[in-house]
Amino acid sequence: MKVLSVTSEVFPLVKTGGLGDVTGSLPKALARTGVETSTIVPGYPEVMRKLFNAPPLLAFDDLLGERASLLHVRKNGLSLFVLDCPALYDRPGGPYVDAAGNDHPDNWKRFAALSLAAAEIAAGALPGWVPDLVHTHDWQSALTSVYMREMGLSTPVVITIHNIAFQGQFPATLLPALGLRADLYSTDSLEYFGDISFLKGGLQTADAITTVSPTYAREILTPRFGMGMDGVLNERVALLRGIVNGIDLDVWDPSTDPHLPVTYDVTSLRRKRENRAVLTTRFGLDDGDEGPIFSAVSRLTWQKGMDMLAETADEIIWNGGKLIVFGQGDHAIEQQLLEVAGRYPGRMAVHIGYDEPTAHLIHGGSDAIVQPSRFEPCGLTQLYALRYGCVPVVSRTGGLSETIIDANDAAMSARAATGFQFHPVTTDGLRMALRRALHVFADPKQWARLQNQGMKARFSWDRSAHQYAAVYASLVRKSGAEPIAGLRRAVP
Ligand code: ADP
Ligand code: GLC
Repeated sequence: MKVLSVTSEVFPLVKTGGLGDVTGSLPKALARTGVETSTIVPGYPEVMRKLFNAPPLLAFDDLLGERASLLHVRKNGLSLFVLDCPALYDRPGGPYVDAAGNDHPDNWKRFAALSLAAAEIAAGALPGWVPDLVHTHDWQSALTSVYMREMGLSTPVVITIHNIAFQGQFPATLLPALGLRADLYSTDSLEYFGDISFLKGGLQTADAITTVSPTYAREILTPRFGMGMDGVLNERVALLRGIVNGIDLDVWDPSTDPHLPVTYDVTSLRRKRENRAVLTTRFGLDDGDEGPIFSAVSRLTWQKGMDMLAETADEIIWNGGKLIVFGQGDHAIEQQLLEVAGRYPGRMAVHIGYDEPTAHLIHGGSDAIVQPSRFEPCGLTQLYALRYGCVPVVSRTGGLSETIIDANDAAMSARAATGFQFHPVTTDGLRMALRRALHVFADPKQWARLQNQGMKARFSWDRSAHQYAAVYASLVRKSGAEPIAGLRRAVP
């Protein structure tokens, strides 16, 4: 079976968070189940730099009024289509925001163009490579199925919600510029609280809706977590299911990680101390004492509870621990964290930035990873933490509640615990969890047991990839379409 995955980011070409990790690793696991995925992604400058002059496969003279072409490369075991459209993507800043951190004003067009190009591929624009199914991710690619249905295509589509907080909401007056009929502004189509929503369009036209954990699948049916989309989802609940994310065991492996000064595994955990020393120096923390290092590698946002971490940092510091925060995001939360760090020189460091090797080093050298999210569709950081022998301290929500086993007495005596969970998700809840972690850290045997159990937990993609493959297969079967075979391959 051939699948076209449509995404605004894919590791290792471009990544701002977990979406890139997932779209970059799931195809490799799917390949082991017989599913062949090609992924289409926008040609941002950082993507184009990595292409080494790949030849164009296809030209678009008028993609929402812009000239564009489609390139193909293979990288890290992935088959990638890159949409080269300088008018939309060749500019400073990141995939979603400009250099000053504001949304690109034409994001509606940038991601609609991606979706339209994907729909054209589904319709057969690439002779020799026609997908049997299309898989879209979040609002940025959600219009793909809208365009496909407008073209009269019935190829099955799966949409995955990675984070329902982002919905692609724009003025309805853009419909003509999107090349869409004005009457798609209706409650059973794109209309959304007086605007249009790309995500809603995707949810209304896809054949299956998945999200990245079963708990989040239940949560988003409620007003609190559904963020306005719960009504739409409740109507289509029969199509909705949660499939928990896996991690790329090759990219995140402490025994081979090229970003770690010293590699280690579950049998040589003691060597983590050498990474800890490098980390301490790198972040300008005092060395020479034995308290735990708690770290957060995260978007610094309300979702991630990073304001709560700022408010509870004193709990860690006063009890002999240290705190590292690495990330970027909401300016006010960045300032709040920096201000608290200013009170604890040598004991708390906040670095604003985004850098893959540093993220790896932090996992390699820290004792605990804190992730106090107010909502968390799946979360990958806690999974990387487990694999790297860092003990996660997490809120009990979404994927965090499914992937970490709280160190309560029963789980400790059953040798099943892997971290600390707290609920309700409040500052006091986090403070209590940090206190519990500090208490267990004081007993090296117990702490080592937690690390050990965490490192042995398995979050590879295999199980989840089988679940995606089963969803794909049932849709392709239902659509009656035979997997298209025997066509001349345009793509090597
Ligand atoms: P989300 O996608 O909501 O941000 P996830 O936990 O699913 O959360 O994924 C976050 C991903 O982004 C992880 O791979 C994490 O290592 C990475 N990440 C977050 N902040 C940074 C940063 N400052 N530098 C490098 N990687 C980061
Ligand atoms: C989103 C979510 C995160 C999830 C990631 C990958 O960014 O916030 O919880 O792990 O997508 O699915």
